[in-house]
Amino acid sequence: MSLRDILIAPSILSADFRSLEQEVTRAVEAGADMIHCDIMDGHFVPNISFGPLVVAAVRRCTTVPLDVHLMISNPQDYIERFRESGADTITVHAEATDDLPGLIAQIRDSGARVGITVNPDKPVDLFLDYLSEIDQVLIMTVYAGFGGQKFMPEMMDKVQKVYRAAREIGHAPDIEVDGGVNAHTASTCAEHGANIFVAGSYIFGGENYAQRIGSVREGAQTGQAKAI
Ligand code: DX5
Ligand code: ZN
Repeated sequence: MSLRDILIAPSILSADFRSLEQEVTRAVEAGADMIHCDIMDGHFVPNISFGPLVVAAVRRCTTVPLDVHLMISNPQDYIERFRESGADTITVHAEATDDLPGLIAQIRDSGARVGITVNPDKPVDLFLDYLSEIDQVLIMTVYAGFGGQKFMPEMMDKVQKVYRAAREIGHAPDIEVDGGVNAHTASTCAEHGANIFVAGSYIFGGENYAQRIGSVREGAQTGQAKAI
């Protein structure tokens, strides 16, 4: 396995929304490489979080990339709005569309990086044919919808499958994991090929964000070193 940049993406879903600017600033000063924004519509997933207005507010708090994860039905109706709100990467669920190539092209045309994911019960085969068009693959390590769930180690097969498929076609998309990520599970994910680590409750649930972000990074580095 080749050495790849390890990036930590705190999910503000677990931040204290009374003082969102302070939370984002603290996370970035603590070493966050990007900020992960979880968009939930109460339809594609049972939970409702926030929309483009809040993403735009986060955009005004920081210059680090915004990693926007759309857990919504009809994502094609919202791509441009999230891009205008400041999303750098827009990740959509392949199972939320019946025109994946069209949606990929739409995200690309918007100027955002293209991210694709699927829920744990859906195969990565839903998007593997389009891998060369994808900048970032997100492997969900919990079911989309809520923070604070338990990491699913059985998703590591998917991480490895995507990593190998990408290598075979000479493409190197970022491979991101999301759900139940902490220092320990980050190590497992990195061992299988992941290089972007989303963590919500682990980072924002701690007193010292720098310590939490640092430990996820260290865990990931340990895992990556084991795999090489
Ligand atoms: C789950 C979201 C995650 C969530 C992760 O639907 O996609 O980004 O915030 O939360 P933790 O890290 O607490 O599992
Ligand atoms: Zn997410």
